[in-house]
Amino acid sequence: MNIHALLVSRFTEALEELGVENAPVPVAKSARPEFGEYQFNGAMALAKQLKQKPRDIAEKIVSLVKLNDVASKLEVAGPGFINVHLNDTWLANQCELALHDPRIGVAKEKTNTIVVDYSSPNLAKEMHVGHLRTTIIGDAVVKVLEFLGHKVIRQNHMGDWGTQFGMLLAHLSDKLESEVAETALSDLEDFYRAAKVRFDNEEGFADRAREYVVKLQGGDTRCLALWQLFIDISIKHSEEVYQKLNVSLTRDDIMGESAYNDDLANVIAQLKEQGIAVEDQGAQVVFIDELADKEGNPAVYIVQKSGGGYLYSTTDLAAIRYRSGKLNADRTLILTDARQALHFKQTEIVGRKAGFMKPEQTYEHCPFGMMLGSDGKPFKTRTGGTVKLVELLDEAVERAGNLIAERTSDLSTDELKDVARKVGIGAVKYADLSKNRTTDYVFNWDTMLSFEGNTAPYLQYAFTRVQSIFRKSGISPADLPGAMAFTEKQEHVLAVLLLQFEEVVGVVSRDATPHVLCTYLYDVASAFMSFYEACPILKDGIEDKVRNSRLELAALVAKTLEQGLALLGIETLDKM
Ligand code: ARG
Repeated sequence: MNIHALLVSRFTEALEELGVENAPVPVAKSARPEFGEYQFNGAMALAKQLKQKPRDIAEKIVSLVKLNDVASKLEVAGPGFINVHLNDTWLANQCELALHDPRIGVAKEKTNTIVVDYSSPNLAKEMHVGHLRTTIIGDAVVKVLEFLGHKVIRQNHMGDWGTQFGMLLAHLSDKLESEVAETALSDLEDFYRAAKVRFDNEEGFADRAREYVVKLQGGDTRCLALWQLFIDISIKHSEEVYQKLNVSLTRDDIMGESAYNDDLANVIAQLKEQGIAVEDQGAQVVFIDELADKEGNPAVYIVQKSGGGYLYSTTDLAAIRYRSGKLNADRTLILTDARQALHFKQTEIVGRKAGFMKPEQTYEHCPFGMMLGSDGKPFKTRTGGTVKLVELLDEAVERAGNLIAERTSDLSTDELKDVARKVGIGAVKYADLSKNRTTDYVFNWDTMLSFEGNTAPYLQYAFTRVQSIFRKSGISPADLPGAMAFTEKQEHVLAVLLLQFEEVVGVVSRDATPHVLCTYLYDVASAFMSFYEACPILKDGIEDKVRNSRLELAALVAKTLEQGLALLGIETLDKM
C-alpha cells in the first residue's frame, strides 16, 4: 500500500474534473497531527491559471475528490491547503491486508537492471574502516533493490592490480624461501609495511619491484602465479570480514580491476579515435571543459601514463563499457568515500562523451563521509594505526555479550553467544546505516550498544517485546480471526506508520539512503512502545475483539521490524 501514490492519483482525477491537466499534484506528509496525515498543497499554484482564490479552488477540489473510503475528514486550511485525515476503518482494512501478505503490502517497482559497485577493497592491504561503510551501506541498498523486484548485479571492484603489486610480489617471492604463503600473508598490513620499508631503503629492491611490475603486466607465468597466490589469500581475509558482518557478497560478485585488463587498450584506442584523448607530455589525457577552473583551464583527466601504463581512471572507463554495454545496466551505483567524488564526475563525463553509456543509463556515485574517533579525527587505533575490521567486529560481539549478560540471566550459554553476535554486529552496522551517509560520524561503542534511542538493540528489543506478548497470550498470529478495528489515537498513529513502509523503501531505492529506513523503523518501534503503554492487550477485562485487534497490530509491527531490519542486514531474535 502506498498512501501517497493513492492520494496523488485521486487528486489527479479531481483536478482533471476541474479541467486542469498535467499540473503537478503536490501531496506531502503533514507536519503536525492536527493537520491530518497528508496535505494537498496544489491549490495556491492554480490560482493564477484558474483566476480564482486558492481557498475557493481548494473547496472545489474537496467537493470533487473521491476519498470517502480513505479519509474521515478533508478540511481546507490556511491559504488553501487541503488536510487529509485518514479513516480508521480504511486503515484497519489496509493493515489487515498487509498482515496477510508475505510482502507486507509492498508492491514491486518496474524492474530495472542495477549494478551496485560496493565494498571494493584494495587487496594489497587489510580492509579498513572506510570499507566498512561501503560494505554495509552497499549491502543494505542491494537488499532493498532486490526486495523491490530489481535485477541487481553486485560488483566487488576489488583493487587487485597496479604498481604496488611489484613491491609486494618481490617481497613475497623472498619470503616464500623460508615460509608458506598463508603465514607470510597472515597480516597484510605488516606485510605491506615491510615491503615498503625495503622499497624505500634496500639497495636494488626498488628495481626488482619495478621488474616485477613489467613482468606481471607482460603476463609472465611465474609472476602471475605469485600474484594469484597473493590475491587468493587477500580475498580470504575479506571473506572473513563479510562472513562476520553477515553481508551477501560472495566470490562470484568479484569483478576486480584486473578483470578489465584486456579492454584497456580498446578504451584508449576509442578515446583517441574520437579525438577525446590527446597526447600531452607523452601521456594520454582528456581535457574536460565542463570542469574548468575559474581561469577557464579545463580539468586534466589522465587515462594513460607516459610509459604506457594504465590507471584507476582507465579501469573505471572500461567498467562503464562493460556495465552499460554488456550488462545493460539501467543504473550503476558506486559506493565510495566522498573524496573520490571528483574522479567519478570526471569518469562519467568522459564515459558519456565516448558513448560508453546510453543517455538514459545512469551513473550514480553515492558518496559517504568518514568514520571518526571520539577525538573527531579519522578513526585509528590508540597508537595511530589502522583499525582492522575483524578485530573491531570481534570487540563488538564481546561488548554486546557483556551487556546482555548483565541484563538477563535466563539465557543459556549458547543462546547468549547467539544474542551477543546478533546484537553486537547489528549495533555496528546500524550505527553506520542510521546516519545520513554523506556526513562524517563519530564511532562510539556506548551509544551504538545502548538499548535506548535510535539503535539496533532498541529495535531488536522492540521486536522481542512483540514475541513475548504472543508467548504470554498463548495465541499464534496465524490463529487470529482478522478483524482489526481502532479506537485509540495510538492505534491510529501506529497504523498510519505501518502503511508507510512502501513509501519509505521507495525512497531508499531511489536515493540509496538506508538511514531513511532506519529512522522509519525507529519511529515504528517508538510508536509501538507508546501504543503498548496506552492500549493494554493482555490485561484482564479486555474484550476479545479488542485484544485480537491489538494483537494483530502488534503482529504487523513485528513483521515490519523484521522485514525492515532484514533489508538492513540486521538479524532479529525472539528473546534477549
Ligand atoms: N578500491 C577502491 C578503494 O578502496 C574503491 C573502488 C570503487 N569502485 C570503483 N569502480 N572505482 O578506494
